[in-house]
Amino acid sequence: MANGALQDHVVVITGGGSGLGAAFARRLAADGAMIIVNDLDPDAAALVADEVGGHAAPFDVTDSAAFDTAIDHVVHHHGRLDALVNNAGIAPPFDPDRFERTVANEMLRMEGRLDEMQPLGVLTSMTDGEWRRMLAVHLDGTFFGTRAALRHMQPARRGVIVNIASVLGLHPSSGAPHYSTAKAAIIALTKAAAEEVAPFGIRINAVCPGWVDTPLLSSYDDLAKGLITSRIPMGRMATAEELAELVRFLAGPESSYSTGDVYPASGGYA
Ligand SMILES: NC(=O)c1ccc[n+]([C@@H]2O[C@H](COP(=O)([O-])OP(=O)(O)OC[C@H]3O[C@@H](n4cnc5c(N)ncnc54)[C@H](O)[C@@H]3O)[C@@H](O)[C@H]2O)c1
Repeated sequence: MANGALQDHVVVITGGGSGLGAAFARRLAADGAMIIVNDLDPDAAALVADEVGGHAAPFDVTDSAAFDTAIDHVVHHHGRLDALVNNAGIAPPFDPDRFERTVANEMLRMEGRLDEMQPLGVLTSMTDGEWRRMLAVHLDGTFFGTRAALRHMQPARRGVIVNIASVLGLHPSSGAPHYSTAKAAIIALTKAAAEEVAPFGIRINAVCPGWVDTPLLSSYDDLAKGLITSRIPMGRMATAEELAELVRFLAGPESSYSTGDVYPASGGYA
């Protein structure tokens, strides 16, 4: 339920132009926060920023100099930085052929016919560029943002960082090894950083969403979405708004004893 608990708070959300990030922006703004909406897509950032009465800050989170400049600019203009949500992300595009082979392999495995299973080639066909970009957007981006924010939060001796990881960081998927590795590393970074800055009044936590129906999954067809949902005990994906309630809790004073903690919201999958 919306209240004014975040009045005067200044919050930066990366990847805020779509899906989860946009839902976080709306939820935190509803409680009074001033939102700085980052995104790689300037138009998407501007649209959400206008909607929530905030400001757009388009840049690529893999560019550490741009991240530093943006955070410095926020503190210079608004006089404070209360929270950073490291949310920007990408996902490997859905591959229908590989999906078909995955389903066929599962049937063969169930029947014990392992010698007939076909290699999926996820790792063997992955290019250096695909691996590097996945790690860069998720892990480098989260590190660059955390470092830039802490440079202001430490002297102020206050602040909150929420890192958006994934259930795949807890239960890695063979279909997305680079994504899973990046998300697991974000969890490790969250814990290491939280321990360092806990004495200075700064809290850092990670959220591990299960599957959420956002544009990130737009390349998935109905069959693929059906297979995913069949593995979720609650039998459905989350809405971005459901995740936004958790991020709102972690970004605000209600979570005052949480740091270095990992919060799955997975409909029972995690
Ligand atoms: N949707 C899911 O099922 C799901 C599940 C678990 C975790 N997540 C994570 O949640 C986060 C948000 O995902 P979403 O579902 O809202 O996806 P989305 O595609 O709807 O939104 C992601 C946004 O990040 C932006 N972005 C991508 N690369 C960027 C970069 N280098 N710099 C700045 N912005 C960049 C995109 O332009 C986009 O607007 C991601 O980190 C994703 O891995 C999503």
